[in-house]
Amino acid sequence: MDINKVNIWLDCDVGNDDAMAVILSLFHPRSNLLGISTCFGNTSLENCTDNTIRLLSSVGRTDVPVYKGAEFSLKSTRATTKMHGSQGLYAADRLISSFKPLENIELYDLIKQTAKDQEFVIVITGPQTNIAKLLKDHEDIIPQIQQIVFMGGTSGFGNVTPNSEYNIYSDPEAAQFVIDTCRQHSLKLVMISLDLTYTCQLLEPLQQRIKNINSKFSDWCLEMLQEYQAAYKAQEFEYPPIHDPVAVFYALHPELYVIKPVYCAVECDSKLCYGRTVVDKQDVYGFEPTLLFARKVIVDEFWNQMIEAIKLAAKNSKIE
Ligand code: BDR
Ligand code: CA
Repeated sequence: MDINKVNIWLDCDVGNDDAMAVILSLFHPRSNLLGISTCFGNTSLENCTDNTIRLLSSVGRTDVPVYKGAEFSLKSTRATTKMHGSQGLYAADRLISSFKPLENIELYDLIKQTAKDQEFVIVITGPQTNIAKLLKDHEDIIPQIQQIVFMGGTSGFGNVTPNSEYNIYSDPEAAQFVIDTCRQHSLKLVMISLDLTYTCQLLEPLQQRIKNINSKFSDWCLEMLQEYQAAYKAQEFEYPPIHDPVAVFYALHPELYVIKPVYCAVECDSKLCYGRTVVDKQDVYGFEPTLLFARKVIVDEFWNQMIEAIKLAAKNSKIE
């Protein structure tokens, strides 16, 4: 494998913006996607897995193994969201489905089989349940992980409660476990929060660029994203933030981000603030940093490369 490539294990809950994360990790020239694990989240585990399989089948990437992960959080709950429709992926019926997730294998064994002895990055774009379990049960895998990048949390407003972001709220205990484990093992942990992803909205000219690709797949992509936009409009946001690929993009182009080490912890007890990420950006507490908080990204470059990935996906498309 090209040494400039980044091995990625993607853990996701596809999901409209997760779909964009999958496309970026499949078609960015620096990415080597080892496999995908699915989690409950934007919709049921069943739907999230089905959506993942459909997307991979539709762009001819049936070689990417899919592991069907957690159905519920560590505390056996499942939070809901209105942003992704009943199937979790708009216009999913226009995609094809041509293979099945793997069965009778543990996530640990699958990652070991695909990564062999190489290092890899874990990118999480849903609740962190699968990865918390992996780290808990298989500490020996930790030295092989270069870093964990997650989309989740906020230092400002929440999107599922006034204080909490959806992915973290869905399994706060898992998120805190990941923070604690990374700290204990000096494993780099990067947080791509709502603060950052709201700077990456799908504005009108970007939609036009997707339209100009002019293929069945790009048309599907645009339709899916515009339905996602409608869900945001119903919440009085004009354009949708495309959260999840911003985390994948960090794994591929960290030099295009401004990051800051901060102390961050997840509120797991409070009634009103359950799932809140307390991000001490001003170092008020003077505690040791627990993760790297991404403050800025070169947004134009993110979009240029995202749209290039959609073009490549369109070239490989199998949809009629
Ligand atoms: C996150 O929650 C989900 O709805 C999105 O897919 C994204 O991962 C944003 O809060
Ligand atoms: Ca997601």
